[in-house]
Amino acid sequence: MNRRTFIKQTCITCVSGGLIPFLTTSCQATHYVSGVMDATGIIVPKSEFTYLKKEQTLTRQYIIIQNDKLEFPIYVYRFSDTEYSALWMKCTHQGAELQAAGDALHCPSHGSEFTNKGAVSNGPAEKNLRSFSIIVQTETITIDLRQS
Ligand code: FES
Repeated sequence: MNRRTFIKQTCITCVSGGLIPFLTTSCQATHYVSGVMDATGIIVPKSEFTYLKKEQTLTRQYIIIQNDKLEFPIYVYRFSDTEYSALWMKCTHQGAELQAAGDALHCPSHGSEFTNKGAVSNGPAEKNLRSFSIIVQTETITIDLRQS
């Protein structure tokens, strides 16, 4: 395949929707937090899910917890003020670190994809992601690291 044919076919794939959903969802700025460790797990203020834009308070779909005490980051998705999911960002295929793309997680190694609840949506991975219980309080959420 020559260069011109490659570019033409690649553009057709992008325009036909192959990459557009991934690119548009991944344009959202990812917000990283370290949280505070305690005996239960990691505590994160709910305010980490909000930000100001043009004097409006907007809500982030997800945040990523990165902490020196964690081997992998944790993706925390907000469904509502009282419902969240917390997922270990380690691919269940061969252990690569996952990338967040909006409401999905993508593996850069072999292309596995997972939903915001940790279910496999595209292989080669066959097992769902490790998930953590979340304790929701008025001002904070706690990712419970004692189990799962
Ligand atoms: S390590 Fe993630 S798909 Fe292979």
